[in-house]
Formats: sequence, C-alpha cells, structure tokens
Amino acid sequence: MTTLKDVPGIEPHGGALELRIAATEDAARLAEEAAGLPTIEARSRRILSDLELLAVGAVSPNRGFMNEADYTSVVNDMRLANGLPWSLPITLSATAEELENLATGARAAIVHEGTPVAIIDIEDIYAYDPQDEAQKCYKTTEDKHPGVAHIYSQGPKYVGGEVTVLANVFAHEFSEYRLTPLQVREEIAKRGWKTLVAFQTRNPIHRAHEYLTKVALEGVDGLLIHPLVGGTKGDDIPAEVRMKCYEVLMENYYPHDRVILSVFPAAMRYGGPREAIWHALLRKNYGVTHFIVGRDHAGVGDYYGTYEAQEMFDRFDEQELGIRALKFEHTFFCRQCEGMASAKTCPHDRSHHVHLSGTQVREMLGEGTEPPHEFSRPEVARILIEAERTKAQA
Ligand code: ADX
Repeated sequence: MTTLKDVPGIEPHGGALELRIAATEDAARLAEEAAGLPTIEARSRRILSDLELLAVGAVSPNRGFMNEADYTSVVNDMRLANGLPWSLPITLSATAEELENLATGARAAIVHEGTPVAIIDIEDIYAYDPQDEAQKCYKTTEDKHPGVAHIYSQGPKYVGGEVTVLANVFAHEFSEYRLTPLQVREEIAKRGWKTLVAFQTRNPIHRAHEYLTKVALEGVDGLLIHPLVGGTKGDDIPAEVRMKCYEVLMENYYPHDRVILSVFPAAMRYGGPREAIWHALLRKNYGVTHFIVGRDHAGVGDYYGTYEAQEMFDRFDEQELGIRALKFEHTFFCRQCEGMASAKTCPHDRSHHVHLSGTQVREMLGEGTEPPHEFSRPEVARILIEAERTKAQA
C-alpha cells in the first residue's frame, strides 16, 4: 500500500492517492495469511468493484470500508468525519454467521468464489439502519430502486476498516482501456494538458452525449470518455456492447490527440444527485479538472428531478470539491436548427425536435430498425441491433 502525495496533475481529493493494492513482494505472504483468517464473502459485484477502486486510489482519501464515524457523517452530512466532502458511503456488510468470527482489532479475509481477494483490518463493527441510509442517500425507501435494493440485500452489520487488496478480479476486462488514476494522470502530463473534462456514462454514446462531450471539449485541453463498467442493472446495455460503440465513435468521430477512452471501474448506485458528486470526486482522483453533468445524471425511474444532480453541486464550495461541474440542459437534435441544441439555444417547439424515449429506442433496435441518424450514429445503431439479435438468439 502506498500514499502518493507527489502525483502529476491536480491534487487528489484529500491531498494524496491512497493505493491499497498489496505490494508484489508482500502478495504471497499476505495470501498465505488470508487463507487462515475468518472470512467475509464479497456477496455483490459492487464490493469487488469497490475493492478495485480502493486498490487504484480512485476513492482517495478512503483507505477501506467506512468506519461508523465516516459512515454516519457521509449519510447525514455528505462529508467524511474530517469534514471533507464525500457523498455516498463505501460499506462492507457481514452476515450473522460471519460476524460470530469477527472482532474489532483483528483481521479478516474478503473472499470471492473461495479465494481471498483482500484483507481488512477491522476498526469497528456497527449496526446500521437500512431505511435511514436509503432515504438519505437515495431519497426513497422503495426496493425497486437498485441502490436501495442493494442496501436491503446486505447482512445486519457493517465492518469498517482499511483494506489491502490482493487481487483485482476484473483486471482482465477491457484491460487495454483500464487506466488507473495514476496512469490517466501520467497520460495527461505526457500530452501536456492543463485541463481535462470527464464524461461519465452508462449508455452507448448517442448524438446528445456526443454533443455534450464536444461542446465541453471546446473549452478545455482534453476529454476523458470514462464509461462506467463496474456493474449496472440488468436492463442497461452491457459494457462489452457499449465498448464496441465507444470504439467505433473513437475511430470515426473523435480526434485522438484530444480524447482518451478509458473505463471507470465503479458500480452504478443510481443515486442521482449524490452519485453525481461521487462521480465527480472520483474523477478528480483521476486528475480530471472538469466534469459533465447533464439531465438526470445517474438517475433511475423518476426518483430525481431533471436538474437535481446539477443543483447538488451548488451545495458545495467549488474549491473544496476541487473539480468543476459543466452543466448541460437536456439536448436534442432540432430539424429547424439542423443541429444539436437545447432549450437554452433553440427557439423551435418540440415538434421539430428528434426525441426518442429509451423504450422507443429499445423497440426499434429489437425490430432491427436503425434510429434516425439525428439520434444515433449509424455505426453505433448497427452494433446495438447486432447485440439485440445475438441476445434474441441466445
Ligand atoms: S448516467 O447514469 O451515466 O448519468 P447516461 O449515460 O445516460 O447516464 O448519461 C451520461 C451523462 O450524459 C450524464 O451527465 C447525463 O446527465 C448526460 N445526458 C444524457 N443524455 C442527455 C441529454 N439528452 N441531454 C443532456 N444531458 C444528457
């Protein structure tokens, strides 16, 4: 594990990158130790994604799963116990059975499919109120909200403490695009960029997304297309399919000397406004200076207002966040303007706008029909149609 204060680019959140991956020379000894420790099963993909974020320093200054003081402070006040902004908890739960073997001050192995993937130094073990966490973090207690469902699926207590990550289960996925915060920072330094905007997405890049990224890029030195790949809900388009879409766009529509495509290993929480802040703070750790926040960022269903995520940034001082939100109105193609536009820039009424709902798009793709090119680039539409076909045949 390393605390890296001297990193290229902007200061990480809290001042240093906290890399929690075990040093190569310690790995064998730690794996042997882990084999003899009490265990906590990594029950969800999200825990494994969180471990990767900890391993690479993306959630700095956090060094592990939150202790009670940080957890309570984050849930209630969107700050770590030391006052630093932080909007969503990072937690590890244990079952009643597992808890029997765990003790404060001791170590435990976090296990995936029978293999220890991390060691936790247990700082505290505490009860939590799932409804309270759900209401405060996600603004609902309904279990049809995927973030809430995750809370309800957990064991009865949280186990807090610093972790040492032994293995990144996902290292092989999109490995050529899996740049760590340090690697992104090195790339920025190599390219001589002072400012870089990140684009978070869990969708294929359609024309509206492309427009946001390009407008944003006009004002800064570089663009990081940073699709989230660490776990999404079942009806979102799988990361493998999305990656093909991003690649084809990189090939045909983005300037390589100004754009980096790399994956963001976090799991989606669907936390709307709070997740927008979380997304931005993690990108700050990647060395990013600006962050795109459009309509209903990280939203699901109708739990959040269209611009609530943007408004959340106003609750913090920009200096203490250390990354600037670039806020965008809902954008669309306008046939009268003959280009992408938003309510801010287009005087025409809705009848001139190309607007398709997610359901309409899914239906069109399912029938093998390409959505209009004003909505999606034909290369992207073809990949999505092909994916639908393969899914139907499976
Ligand atoms: S998200 O969960 O990652 O936010 P998505 O991939 O759909 O979902 O959106 C990525 C980013 O683009 C978010 O900042 C979102 O607000 C923004 N966005 C998506 N579609 C539009 C649109 N039509 N107009 C403006 N912003 C948009």
